[in-house]
This record gives sequence, C-alpha cells and structure tokens, in this order.
Amino acid sequence: MSKKIIKIEDLKREFVMGTETVHALRGISFDINEGDFVTIMGSSGSGKSTVLNILGCLDQPTSGIYEIDGVKVKDLSRNELATIRNEKIGFIFQSYNLLARTSAIENVELPLVYNSKVSSKERRKRAISALEKVGLSDRLDHTPAQLSGGQQQRVAIARSLVNNPVMILADEATGNLDTRTSYEIMSLFQELNQQQGITITFVTHETDIAAFSNRTIVLKDGDIIQDYKNHNIQSVADELAKLPKQDDEL
Ligand SMILES: Nc1ncnc2c1ncn2[C@@H]1O[C@H](COP(=O)(O)OP(=O)(O)O)[C@@H](O)[C@H]1O
Ligand SMILES: [Mg+2]
Repeated sequence: MSKKIIKIEDLKREFVMGTETVHALRGISFDINEGDFVTIMGSSGSGKSTVLNILGCLDQPTSGIYEIDGVKVKDLSRNELATIRNEKIGFIFQSYNLLARTSAIENVELPLVYNSKVSSKERRKRAISALEKVGLSDRLDHTPAQLSGGQQQRVAIARSLVNNPVMILADEATGNLDTRTSYEIMSLFQELNQQQGITITFVTHETDIAAFSNRTIVLKDGDIIQDYKNHNIQSVADELAKLPKQDDEL
C-alpha cells in the first residue's frame, strides 16, 4: 500500500462576514496517498481554493484534523509551517505569480535563496535542471513579459519543483490558457506524476481535465458529493495529438 501523505478529517472552514457566517467547508474528510494525481472539481464558490489553501498550509481550518506526512499541522510553530510550505510543497496558481523584470532562472532560484544548505552554485544548477524538465532551457534569461502565458506557467512549475517537493498543489493552473496550451501544461503534470511519482492535487472547474488524473473529488457548497478513482486514465499526449495544428504556434 502506498504511503499516506495527506489526511483530513471533518475539516471545517467558516468565514465570519459581519453578521453572516460563510460555511466554505462543512466537515470534509479524505486521504491522499503518495503518487496520487487528484483533481478537485466543483463550480465556482464550492470550496476548492479554500481546501487547497489549507492543504498548502496557507490557511488554517476552523476545526477538524489536518495531517501532512503524519504530522498534525495544528501543532506546528510558525517557523515549522514556513519550512513545510517552502520545502515540502510546490504551489502553482492561475496567475503564475512570477516576479516581473526578473529572469526565468532567477524566478526559479527564489525558493532556494532562503535555504542555507544550498550554495549559490548548487542553486543555479538546480534551477537550470528544473527549467530543462519543463522544456525551457533556451529561455533562462527571459523575463515574464518576454514569455507566452504557457511558458510563464512552465517557469512557475519549474519554480515549484526546485525544492523537490513531496506534493504539488495547483489552483486552476490552466485557467488562463487556451485549449492546446492548457493540454501542454497538463501533459507536463501527467509526466511529473507518472514518471517521477510526484503527488499532485489539481483544482479545476473544467470537467475534461479530470480524465487525466487517477482520482476525482467533487465539491458542492462545501461538501464532498463524489470521490472516485479513475480506472481509465487518458493520456494528455494522445489528446494533444488529436487537436488541430495551429500555423501560428510559437
Ligand atoms: N477570505 C474569505 N472571506 C470570506 N469568504 C470567503 C473567503 N474565501 C472564500 N470565501 C467564501 O467561501 C466559499 C468558497 O470559496 P472558494 O474556496 O474560493 O471557492 P472556489 O475556489 O471553489 O471557487 C465562497 O462562498 C467564498 O465566497
Ligand atoms: Mg478558487
């Protein structure tokens, strides 16, 4: 059996807004095993980002249990939380969150800057290797403005990989991209999961994306309404090959 890396139990998150309480998560439970590729689906406002932010230790639940790698997150100090965020988890967002006027390689080096165990030479080496993995070895010195949306998202993925995280959390990572580019990015996620065994939790509201993962959790109004394994995982590369070719491709 694979190792359990995430365990949540009866997790609730409430936001108090004046006299009103928003029940963003109403007591959800699930485990994620090492090597899983989970898509979290649901319409806008169903609680997807809220659960992802808690999984990534960016936010704390109102109540319930959250364990990562066997450690109860509630018991951790601020410093320990920061270390987990920085060293165990890679984040990818819809809006890339890259530093403008900063080269691809420097953006990717960023998570290692505060890691005293990694020399500047090693840092550069690891950043170059991460950018090679996402197919951008010829764009090391480009700034975000000099890159397409898909390329910027690749830089963000390289940045998320540079610390060798146990888990990648992606929130609508293909939300700003056209179909072909978003399939190219999905193909990269599938490769990272299938070839390198990286655990991925991928939030999306696009139903076709779920077919590429091995498990789907569907949220509705803060509750899990479906949680199922996908026994017929589609290859993104195959789907990409079926798309019509574009003449103006970069
Ligand atoms: N910081 C916040 N303050 C108040 N309400 C919030 C906050 N974050 C999320 N919510 C509410 O919680 C619910 C779930 O939001 P969210 O997790 O962002 O949904 P999704 O990502 O599925 O679109 C929504 O009703 C949203 O308005
Ligand atoms: Mg969201």
